[in-house]
Amino acid sequence: MADLGHTVVGIDTDQAKVDLLSSGSAPFFEPGLPELLSAPHGRLRFTTSIKEASGASVHFIAVGTPQIAGGNAADLSYVDAAIEALLPHIAPGHLVVGKSTVPVGTAARLAERVATTGARLVWNPEFLREGFAVSDTISPDRIVYGIAADDHTSVPQLDEVYAAPLSTGLPRIVTDYATAELVKVSANAFLATKISFINAMAEIAEATGADVTTLADAIGHDVRIGRRFLNAGMGFGGGCLPKDIRAFQARADELGLSSTLAFLGHMDQINLRRRERAVQLVIDELGDLGGRRVVMLGLAFKPDSDDVRDSPALEVARRLHALGALVVATDPEAIPSSRRSAPELDYDPDVRTALRDADAIVLATEWPQFRSLDPVEVASWTTARVIIDGRNYLDADAWRAAGFTYRGMGRF
Ligand code: UDX
Repeated sequence: MADLGHTVVGIDTDQAKVDLLSSGSAPFFEPGLPELLSAPHGRLRFTTSIKEASGASVHFIAVGTPQIAGGNAADLSYVDAAIEALLPHIAPGHLVVGKSTVPVGTAARLAERVATTGARLVWNPEFLREGFAVSDTISPDRIVYGIAADDHTSVPQLDEVYAAPLSTGLPRIVTDYATAELVKVSANAFLATKISFINAMAEIAEATGADVTTLADAIGHDVRIGRRFLNAGMGFGGGCLPKDIRAFQARADELGLSSTLAFLGHMDQINLRRRERAVQLVIDELGDLGGRRVVMLGLAFKPDSDDVRDSPALEVARRLHALGALVVATDPEAIPSSRRSAPELDYDPDVRTALRDADAIVLATEWPQFRSLDPVEVASWTTARVIIDGRNYLDADAWRAAGFTYRGMGRF
């Protein structure tokens, strides 16, 4: 927002995050973000003081809605707390803009709270992907505004905020609160379904000797299907897709529509089974894992991120460890975050030393630096002759030619 020309104050309750951001550093790895944080325009600052919101006229709510402990629903306590903390500092004519992913019906409830101050609420979901967060924010695919039926002022106000991206002809959809909320969760449910669909085909391929990658290429040529999000592997993880499909089902249950979204439960199960499959492939190749050394190439839930929330890579590493393997994990960015949640694993930032004395290698996150490893050279660094390609990312022929037993997901 500051890069787009606005004067921005970022507010968070976490002093450590605010301090880091104030010093120009991001508290997580996101390409392009440090450059924006350290830009010398002087329009961006950070604080823990909610009082500083009173100097602004547009207030974005961008807090998380994680899965509740012990259930599938979204935890709305951070959204509610942010709105309540903001209320004393907003005034008639102000705009509160919800970015958080929330169960349908939330915005209408929050709008009543915001209306007590004379301000307006717009629901404006974000669709950014980790690793592309900067470009997805500065030049999104589309912008959605969910507004109240009697609201005739918020659209031009928010258009001013988004003037730069809108000037490129970007689609802007103005709708009601419920539709805006549903656009976000249904987009994520669709993406999760697409990934689980191809992973279901991977299971069929494993039983029949077919190759899921060739299958995906072939069906992906049909423009109605498309090739993107058809990569079979260890499945989806991260802070969004898994918890969003669960929260969507929980909301459908509340609406008496359990059977409508029951298929998302199947998608979730297919997805989680792929993690077991990766573990099983290691067992198939090594037998008893007790004392065997397994190297994980990748820990983040996807490349260009240090996020290990619900990461298939980290979960597979943990399961292998629980089965007695000596797991040595490497990742270009996600070692510190992994160490915090899985201190039981061994970590080595150097791929070459990590690989020494290994029995098997598992490619778990498709970082380009792993694809550029030369299998012949790797063979000279390690005793391992087994590579499990959990993301169907490597050149199977090249690894086989270098003397490795190569096992992919849904391919032979
Ligand atoms: C997702 C949505 O894409 C984004 O629009 C939304 O705003 C937030 O949630 P993100 O969580 O950053 O973004 O990751 P995404 O790129 O969607 O990938 C999610 C997971 O699916 C990753 O673990 C990735 O490895 C996996 N994936 C993706 C596959 O297994 N196969 C694919 O073909 C694509």
